[in-house]
Amino acid sequence: MLKAEHLSKHYCSGVIRKHHVDAVSGVSFEIGKGEILGIAGNSGCGKSTIARMLMGLEDPDEGAVWLDGQKISGLTMGQMREHRKKMQMIFQHPESSLDPQKKILFSMTEPMKIHRVYREQKKMQQRIEELFDLVGVSTGLLSRYPHQISGGEAQRIMIARALTLDPKVLILDEPTSMLDVSIQAHVMCLLKDLRNKLDLTYLFISHDLEVLGWFCDRISIMSRGKFVESGDTEQIIHNPGHPFTKELVDSFSNFGQEEKDECKQNPVFPDGCGGEKLYRSSQKVFCEPGSSDPADSGDRERTGCTAVCSEK
Ligand SMILES: Nc1ncnc2c1ncn2[C@@H]1O[C@H](COP(=O)(O)OP(=O)(O)O)[C@@H](O)[C@H]1O
Ligand SMILES: [Mg+2]
Repeated sequence: MLKAEHLSKHYCSGVIRKHHVDAVSGVSFEIGKGEILGIAGNSGCGKSTIARMLMGLEDPDEGAVWLDGQKISGLTMGQMREHRKKMQMIFQHPESSLDPQKKILFSMTEPMKIHRVYREQKKMQQRIEELFDLVGVSTGLLSRYPHQISGGEAQRIMIARALTLDPKVLILDEPTSMLDVSIQAHVMCLLKDLRNKLDLTYLFISHDLEVLGWFCDRISIMSRGKFVESGDTEQIIHNPGHPFTKELVDSFSNFGQEEKDECKQNPVFPDGCGGEKLYRSSQKVFCEPGSSDPADSGDRERTGCTAVCSEK
């Protein structure tokens, strides 16, 4: 579905002395339809630069991007327009993607107007209502300005906005790192749910290996512009090969050791979460799909983690 071949990007900056940065050097990967690939790495290692090259926001110095069998690097703005519909990006700071001077309704209709998706205002309105329902926010927010909504609401709205054009691929660049822990869990659950419902393909970028470990099918570990190791999530987390991966895994020392007691004290109620189990590790809250435990059914299903906690 999405392929990157030997992507490289070098920057040259500085006023007094020129400073060269090899932001991305020879990165290649492929993501199959419906798959979630995670890219993990420390701040400044080149993750967002990859995202920008994939989206055509920056041209690679070397290499190319392929979407749905078509090479999209080097296309003109006009040619890129069609591909933009297929691939959308969610940024770390939702507020930076919303015009502070305009009501939310404006930001929601903008992509549909640019791409001339609907001729009738009513159809556009209907589509927005459907999407707001899907991401779990009230349409009452449409008449508010960005400063009048919470961070979690803003990120849900950005997800809805990204979905207005029916994309096949979402590039998620640290989509929850600015949100607080419980909101983060809700948004992660929502993203997982949407992937299943809408058959989406994700590239998920994060510095947080714990979140990636829960969310992704495969993970690539990035350091100083290069992929140092790639593999199935299980292998990366439980059997890391590269010293840098080991270091990164060790920095999340609480892997898999969910603190059940803490979980009991802090039940979380994710709206519309596709999962049935919820657990809390040292710092984060995750849900897990497909629990067969009868204690999780009925009212408790999707409404809290107490059953799971008491079970273990
Ligand atoms: N427009 C730019 N000009 C100069 N250097 C840049 C530019 N964008 C990013 N960089 C540098 O490239 C490196 C990778 O940045 P980035 O991709 O944003 O990292 P990450 O997303 O992993 O934190 C960093 O050293 C950053 O300072
Ligand atoms: Mg970044």
